[in-house]
Amino acid sequence: MPITAAEFDDVRDFVRQMSAIVLDPGKEYFVESRLGPLAKQRGFDTIGHLIERLHRDDVLIQHAVIDAMTTNETSFFRDLHPFEALKTVVVPDLLAKRARERKLDIWCAACSSGQEPYTINMTLQEHFGGQLAGWQTKILATDLSTEMLAKAREGRYAQIETNRGLPATLLVQYFDRSGTGWVVKPELKQNIDFRQMNLAAAWPPLPRMDLIFMRNVLIDFDVETKRRIFNRIAQLLKPDGYLFLGAAETTVNLHDGFQRLQIDKAVCYQLRS
Ligand SMILES: C[S@@+](CC[C@H](N)C(=O)[O-])C[C@H]1O[C@@H](n2cnc3c(N)ncnc32)[C@H](O)[C@@H]1O
Repeated sequence: MPITAAEFDDVRDFVRQMSAIVLDPGKEYFVESRLGPLAKQRGFDTIGHLIERLHRDDVLIQHAVIDAMTTNETSFFRDLHPFEALKTVVVPDLLAKRARERKLDIWCAACSSGQEPYTINMTLQEHFGGQLAGWQTKILATDLSTEMLAKAREGRYAQIETNRGLPATLLVQYFDRSGTGWVVKPELKQNIDFRQMNLAAAWPPLPRMDLIFMRNVLIDFDVETKRRIFNRIAQLLKPDGYLFLGAAETTVNLHDGFQRLQIDKAVCYQLRS
């Protein structure tokens, strides 16, 4: 289903306003390929008719359009190195520094369908389960997409998804078979709080964080939104906490309150003292 230039501008403005995601000119084909199937599925004969509904405050259509326009690509142990860094340096350091409070607050922002927070939790349980016994370890996992959050909460994955990055030993330990796929065991879910949150809108009150994963989401935002988000992170992250971004993302030239820290092949950020 083709779209007109005016309809493309309309979608671009709407998506930017709702999510801060920037659709550059030239992405018309991308919009058509995402909204065409949605329009058909919802019974509209053109994308234009679907777009008309956006302006009539049809919240269900608005959510569906945002869901269709976001890239939800993720996998277990994505990029691997950040999780190696958790194992070798970050968690041992936090365990030593928080030995008195025995409490860790972790935020996985833009968690998509849940593979990332479950990977963080498996890394903690696998390598630090004994030491963390009796600790309060909370993982807040947020995303804009209600559809992705529903999947994340359910924790049900097809074999093809578990094949991507998840070692067989961890699969059998932390997942139960469910039909032709797998479902996360309750013990891997119990300390994860899945919540809807738009990083580009006002943030709800959040606890100060020891560790923040915000990977592969900032890349789609405009520079001003990235700056605003880094300002908020600078207030939210504890002075000795750690921030992980996606491999193609950085605070450099956007916020000078962070210093880059290389841990073997992983890069993370800490607040400058
Ligand atoms: C490419 S996925 C990244 C998932 C995971 N962090 C990873 O690296 O594997 C990007 C996620 O960001 C979410 N997202 C996009 N815009 C957002 C916003 N304004 N606020 C919160 N999440 C957003 C999308 O719904 C999507 O699930």
